[in-house]
Amino acid sequence: MNRKNQSDVLLTARVSVQYGDKPVVLRDVQFEIRRGEVLGLVGQSGSGKSTLAMAILGLLDRKRVKAEGMIELEGCDLLKLRERELRGLRGRRVALVLQSPLSSLNPTLKIRTQLKEAWHAHVSGPNSDCDSAIRAALESVSLPATDEFLQKYPAQMSVGQAQRVLIAMAVMHRPALLIADEATSALDVITQSEILALFRELNRSSGMAILYISHDLASVAGICDRIAILHEGQIVETGIAEQVLTNPRHEYTQRLMAAMPRMPQRAAAAAI
Ligand SMILES: Nc1ncnc2c1ncn2[C@@H]1O[C@H](COP(=O)(O)OP(=O)(O)OP(=O)(O)O)[C@@H](O)[C@H]1O
Ligand SMILES: [Mg+2]
Repeated sequence: MNRKNQSDVLLTARVSVQYGDKPVVLRDVQFEIRRGEVLGLVGQSGSGKSTLAMAILGLLDRKRVKAEGMIELEGCDLLKLRERELRGLRGRRVALVLQSPLSSLNPTLKIRTQLKEAWHAHVSGPNSDCDSAIRAALESVSLPATDEFLQKYPAQMSVGQAQRVLIAMAVMHRPALLIADEATSALDVITQSEILALFRELNRSSGMAILYISHDLASVAGICDRIAILHEGQIVETGIAEQVLTNPRHEYTQRLMAAMPRMPQRAAAAAI
C-alpha cells in the first residue's frame, strides 16, 4: 500500500463546531490529510462526519453555526476566508461527492449542460476548452464521451452512471482534495465496488487526495491509506489502515470492528 511522505501535508485541521446553542458536535477535532492519500473518516451516524466535511467546504451557515480553530488547506485557513473566496476554492481545489447521485443532479437539465456549468463555474475560456475538459472528465470516470450520452437527462441513467457523472463534475478542475461523503452508501454492492475502484483509480492516476467518509468500516478497508475514527465529536484513533483494521487500539474502534460480522479477516487482509 502507498505510504505518503509525512511532511507533505495538504490539509491540517483543529476545529470545534457547535450548531446554535445545541451541544458541541465536533470537539477540538485534530487531523491532517497528506497530498495524494486516501484518508478514511469512520464513525456512526450522528458522530459529526458530514459536519466536518461541511466545515472544510465552508458550507456551514456562519450566522447560526460556531466553527472555531483552523482548517488550513494549502497554507490557507478556510475558516478565515470570505464567502467569495470560498466559492473560488469549492469545486476547484476541494470538491464534494454526496450519497444520492440522482438528487444531487438537476433532473431538468441535460448532462452536457450540467457539466458545462461545472466547468464555467471556474473557467471563462473558449467552448472548445470546455468540450475537451468534459470529454476528459467523462473518460476519467469510464463514461462514454458521446453526443448521445451528453444529451441524456439524469432520469435516463442508472444510479451508478449518475454517480460517475457527479464524480466527473467533481474532478473536472483537478482538485487537490475530493471529499466523498457516504458516496457509495446508497448503491447496490456491485455498483458500490465499481465506484470504490473508480475512486482508487482516480487517486492513483491523478494524485488527488480523498477524504472518504463512511459509517462502514468494511468499505473503507479496501480504499484507504489511513483511517481516522470519529466518536462523539472527537477523533479517538488515527493510523495506517492495516494497523487500525488488524490491531485497533481504542476501545471504540474495537467495538466497531466487533459489530461488523461482515468484516472477516479476508476483508481486512484485502486492504493490506
Ligand atoms: N444543520 C444542523 N442544525 C442543527 N444540528 C445539526 C445540523 N446538522 C447536523 N446536526 C447535528 O449534528 C450532529 C452530527 O451530525 P452529522 O450530520 O455531522 O453526523 P454524521 O456523522 O454525518 O451522521 P450520518 O452518518 O447519519 O450522516 C447530529 O447530532 C446532528 O443532529
Ligand atoms: Mg453524514
